Order: sequence, then C-alpha cells, then structure tokens
Amino acid sequence: MVKKAVIPAAGYGTRFLPATKSSPKEMIPIIDTPVIQYVVEEAVESGITDILMIIGKGKRAIEEHFDRSPILEETLEKKNNLEMLEKIKAISEMANIHFVWQKEMNGLGDAILHAKHHVGNEPFVILLGDTLVQSENGPVTKQLIDVYKQQKGSVIALEEVKPELVSRYGVVDGDAVSENVIRAKNWIEKPSFEEAPSNLAVASRYLFTPEIFSYLETTEPGKNNEIQLTDAMREMVKNHPMFGLKFKGKRYDIGNKLGFLKTNIEFGLNDPEIGDELKGWLKEFAGEL
Ligand code: UTP
Repeated sequence: MVKKAVIPAAGYGTRFLPATKSSPKEMIPIIDTPVIQYVVEEAVESGITDILMIIGKGKRAIEEHFDRSPILEETLEKKNNLEMLEKIKAISEMANIHFVWQKEMNGLGDAILHAKHHVGNEPFVILLGDTLVQSENGPVTKQLIDVYKQQKGSVIALEEVKPELVSRYGVVDGDAVSENVIRAKNWIEKPSFEEAPSNLAVASRYLFTPEIFSYLETTEPGKNNEIQLTDAMREMVKNHPMFGLKFKGKRYDIGNKLGFLKTNIEFGLNDPEIGDELKGWLKEFAGEL
C-alpha cells in the first residue's frame, strides 16, 4: 500500500522575504507549531510511515525540528513540564524521516525528481511543505489513498476556487466519475477565465504512480526556466489514468503574507487556549476599522 511521502521544502520562499532569508518558510509558525509539522502529522494520520523531505541551503532548522533534542528534553523534565516534554519527544518519533538536497532550485518538478531513488517502483504521495489542507472528511492525503485503492491511478487533490481566480492556479480538464472524483483528460496551468475548463484547482496534495518520474526526466524547463510538475502531468495523463478528488474543505497557503495572517487568525480562533480571547479582541478591533 501507499507508505511513502515526499515533502518538497527546498524553495527560496521569495514571497515571504525577509523572514525566509535565513529561516525556512516551512518553519513559519501557525500559532506555535511550524507549518511543516502539521504537514507531517497529516501524512502520518494517513498511514504514511516513511517521509522524504527535499531540502536545500538554509533549511537545517527543518532537520533540527524533527531530530531528538536531549538537552531541551532534560530541561523540561527538570522543570516538571511533562506535557511539553511528551509533545517535544513525539515530534522526533512520528515517522522515519529522510532528507535529500536539491542543490539548485530548478522547480517543483526537479525537486520531486530527487525522490526517484528513494521512492522506487511504488505509488507515493506528495505534500507541499508550505501548505495546509483541512477537510471535514479527515486527512486529505488519506482521501487520495482511498481513491487510489478504487481507481488504481494517480489522484490529485482539487479545490474549488472562484472562477475569476482560476488564472492563478493549475486546473483540471476532465469528466466526473462520481460526485467528487474526476477522470482527468488534461491539466491546464493558469488558464484565463474564458479558457478555463473548470474551476477545480490542483491543491498541493498528490498521489502518483511511479511513472511520474520518467515523465519528469523528459520534461524540459518551462516557466521561469524551471521543471514544472504540471508539464510532466500533462504528458503522463495521455498514457496513464489520472484522477482528481474534489475534497470538501480548505487550503491554507502559508508562503505569502496574506495567507499566513489569515491562517493564523482562523487557527487562533479555534485554539482552545486563546480562541475566546482572540475572538473578543478581533470583534472590538474590527469595530474600529
Ligand atoms: P513555491 O513556488 O510555492 O515555493 O513552490 P517557492 O519557490 O519557495 O516560493 P516563492 O514563489 O519563491 O515565494 C511550492 C513548493 O515546492 C517547493 C517549495 O519549497 C514549496 O514547498 N520547491 C519549489 C522546491 O522544493 N524546489 C524548487 O526548486 C521549487
């Protein structure tokens, strides 16, 4: 079954500079927890036991975060902060985490190609390290795995976006096979409003059969002179079954200023410790705007 996940986290994060000058954007906190920890938790809750992170220069903090921290653990024990001690220990025990370095930032497609050797000849999932997805039907990655079990082809998470915003996304062109599953005919990157075949956007969680690697290997650099994952998907769909899953829920892109702030406010409002106080303050503050 699907046991391996790849988390690309090597990008420069230019939309979030200067914070990302020396800190990885995947370590940006949502309240008190780095985005990438939520992403790993989603993978683990979906039955993934083996995670490969694609990292690059300046991303050491990610490795540190998932490593044991004996001195910190000792300090928490001495202070009798056992609740935090358990939380901290659990982070390093969630899954087998491996790292590989993308030495040049040649795009998401190139980052994924770095996972070829590790993944081998198995289906695997990809979770972007700077994006959260939440669904009322449980972890989105688990939902992709469930569709894969039925359809035996690659499955891409799709989010319904406002039609006037389709030009910001990659969208699917396909036919419905059930209420939530679409058989893909094509993948279109950033279509204009008039040309868009749908308003179902690729939403940062993917399950691929291993053939994706041979398509990535022959994909020429595209936009921004980077190897684009969508370009490889467009070739692959001609020969291999690919599906989209319209998940019920929401995507949170943390890698830009507005997305980061909105996500923190939304998660903050649901936080048992600070939620009520934040809500009170927010109402008062909004009244002054
Ligand atoms: P983004 O385009 O959102 O990330 O890529 P970026 O390039 O870091 O961000 P900006 O546009 O400069 O602000 C989506 C995901 O792909 C990874 C990123 O880390 C992110 O998780 N990525 C992107 C790589 O791992 N390598 C790359 O060469 C490019």
